[in-house]
Amino acid sequence: MKKINVGLLFGGRSGEHEVSLNSAFAIASSLDKEKYNVVPIAIAKNGQWFAPIKIEDIKSFSPDNYRGQEVTILPQPNTKLIKLEKYEPLINLDVIFPIIHGTNGEDGTLQGLLEMVDIPYVGAGVAGSAVGMDKVFMKKIFAYNKLPQVNFSYVLRSEIENDISNIINKLINELKFPLFVKPANLGSSVGVSKAKNEAELKKALLEASKYDRKIIIEEGKEVREIEVSVLGNEQPQASIPGEIIPCNEFYDYKAKYIDDKSILEIPAKLDKKTVNELQKLAVDTYLALDCAGLARVDFFICKSTGKIYINEINTLPGFTAISMYPKLWEYTGVSMPQLLDRLISLAFDRYRDKNKNITNYTL
Ligand SMILES: Nc1ncnc2c1ncn2[C@@H]1O[C@H](COP(=O)(O)OP(=O)(O)O)[C@@H](O)[C@H]1O
Ligand SMILES: [Mg+2]
Repeated sequence: MKKINVGLLFGGRSGEHEVSLNSAFAIASSLDKEKYNVVPIAIAKNGQWFAPIKIEDIKSFSPDNYRGQEVTILPQPNTKLIKLEKYEPLINLDVIFPIIHGTNGEDGTLQGLLEMVDIPYVGAGVAGSAVGMDKVFMKKIFAYNKLPQVNFSYVLRSEIENDISNIINKLINELKFPLFVKPANLGSSVGVSKAKNEAELKKALLEASKYDRKIIIEEGKEVREIEVSVLGNEQPQASIPGEIIPCNEFYDYKAKYIDDKSILEIPAKLDKKTVNELQKLAVDTYLALDCAGLARVDFFICKSTGKIYINEINTLPGFTAISMYPKLWEYTGVSMPQLLDRLISLAFDRYRDKNKNITNYTL
């Protein structure tokens, strides 16, 4: 059988570049080499593309230690992976597995390029990715679908610049402290602060507005943090839930990547009814955003009331060997190689489905 050429796109112009290197290494190592020819393609922090990268060099990728070629794929149908210098085709890719977290990877921009190229790719399309990335749009869609979430509000950076006291008064009237203040379009808890009073709220608004022109403000709860992996296209399945026990006051950047003391508990200690409810909500959330392939849905369970809230969806979740997304599937009975097979076949299914659309209309 002819092997499938999988272009594994990783790195990216994103704050989560390093996480992506680890995710890509885990994926490249686990893809079945009998079925797939893996073509790792790195996007450097400045946006340049390089390929092919050896699997063993993925984790330490940097353009400084790379000896190979600068490449691209052109935004036109049926493109190949192109070597830039001489404009020669390098390889015909059959499917792209973009594993770039955050900005310029998980937000619909890369997906837009892949749509123009007309190549099957793993994961959500343009709209699902963009809405999943923008916490304000995401929460509006949750609200429309009556999905449970904490009370929130949002402001623009220009409003903060014009009259921050007015904004603070408005927020204090609308919401109860403590508040979580976040840039709308970021991840990894970058720019996220917890504000317990007016002075901290002011600081938090100024901090978040360094990263985005749209800021989201939410009521903070004392919570357990539960995550569910979802897999599929229009009939997705949900995994067993897992729990994150952060080592800091909340799951901030340091707790995620530096202190290394946060605990992933799989399965989360929950009763059967709560598990069922979380799984149903995870699937409902996934469908509400019209996701495809995969996503991780993150929940809060209020420690005092037991009430479930959806925190967010991640359409290209961390995929390292120790990440929650593949770990939850492993526990649910889907091994990493099986998971990757499913994701690639879902990418082809979605591409075939899209190609049923008529694009040249004549009367
Ligand atoms: N409303 C909230 N109540 C309690 N904790 C929160 C709330 N919002 C965020 N947090 C804490 O901040 C972390 C990061 O927030 P999140 O919205 O998940 O941002 P990111 O997209 O950067 O992961 C969460 O994992 C949680 O620990
Ligand atoms: Mg989060």
